[in-house]
Amino acid sequence: MSAVQLPHPELAAAYAAARESPGATGACHLDSAAAGRMSRAVRAAIRDHLDLEARVGGYVAHEQVSERIDGGRRAIAELCGGQPDGVAFTESATAALRAMLLAMRLPAGSKVAVLPCEFGPNLRELRAFGLEPITVHPFTETGQLDLVSAAEQLDQYPPALLHLCYLGSHRGIVQPVRELARMGRERGIPVLVDAAQGFGHLDCCVDADAIYGTSRKWLCGPRGVGFAMLRDGFLGDGLPGGGAVLVESQEAYIAGRVGLAVALEEHMPLGPQKVRERLHAIGQLARGFLAGRGGWRVVEPEAEPSALTTLRPPSGFRDEDVAALRKHLLGMSPAIVTTYAGPERGPLEATAGVLRVSPHLDVTADALEQLAGILDTWRP
Ligand SMILES: Cc1ncc(COP(=O)(O)O)c(C=O)c1O
Repeated sequence: MSAVQLPHPELAAAYAAARESPGATGACHLDSAAAGRMSRAVRAAIRDHLDLEARVGGYVAHEQVSERIDGGRRAIAELCGGQPDGVAFTESATAALRAMLLAMRLPAGSKVAVLPCEFGPNLRELRAFGLEPITVHPFTETGQLDLVSAAEQLDQYPPALLHLCYLGSHRGIVQPVRELARMGRERGIPVLVDAAQGFGHLDCCVDADAIYGTSRKWLCGPRGVGFAMLRDGFLGDGLPGGGAVLVESQEAYIAGRVGLAVALEEHMPLGPQKVRERLHAIGQLARGFLAGRGGWRVVEPEAEPSALTTLRPPSGFRDEDVAALRKHLLGMSPAIVTTYAGPERGPLEATAGVLRVSPHLDVTADALEQLAGILDTWRP
């Protein structure tokens, strides 16, 4: 049992009031790192927009919601420390990365420095553009970077691009992207930050050339919407907003952008700093409950400031067994929703699959204890 006291209980109440209870959904959702639960207001706004499109047509409907969507741009700019005209909407974090790489036109063979926690599909994208990922070292066993050595490495072997994954998909260890981004920019190396797991969860005011992410995870917006926030002067030789027009998809799922704007309208009044504080304490609480239960080992240090907990199975379990536990949890009543994260999500450092637990603001000790009890007894 953990003695962690969760701060800001009013956030849990607001979050819970905005959506159906686990009793009503039949699911105990511990999976925000995959996709958070949209609120009633987000879903209603999406439905309303689709109805509006059916009445007046997609273009007129778009004009009518553009002010609301611009509110979303302003909120993203505030959360990422940039300007609203630098915010580009895309379909996903990956679509944002792709659009930026396309506009950057780095010569084939260029080196891109990445962290060992780099998301596997991002490596695939970099390679598809003919780029060569190289890893910034050295890391400690728990995944912390030695910043002095990293600076030396950047001086000795300057890459054409620094691509920093703020928080990986397979491990809840927060990377020192603020310091690394500063190092990159001081050396004139362009810096991109993947904040897919960070947005709505970690402080995203990072001085990078662009920071990009997705609506659907910790912010609890809809699927199919992502964004990038570009600094002035980044792309497009003097185009306004750092060339955001080159990244934003012009034909788009506008209802989804409305949904994202509404998720931001809900997030901002909660107080992003308070949300982060509570989520970080939730990570600590979850690790305290789950560590060692049934022989499962928590990967993160207990106090790691993220709400993501990953669990390595007891010895003798294979990746298929971890995936089978996830399936077993889904089949329970109520279903317990978690992720099996295979090593392909973080191929530069992961060697085996983990069970990923990522609760949101309203998680209860009972829910975590229930999961812990299953870890105690479940065997493949
Ligand atoms: C760390 C990380 N980066 C990037 C992505 C890709 O996001 P999207 O699916 O929106 O392209 C994910 C998705 O899970 C992720 O966890």
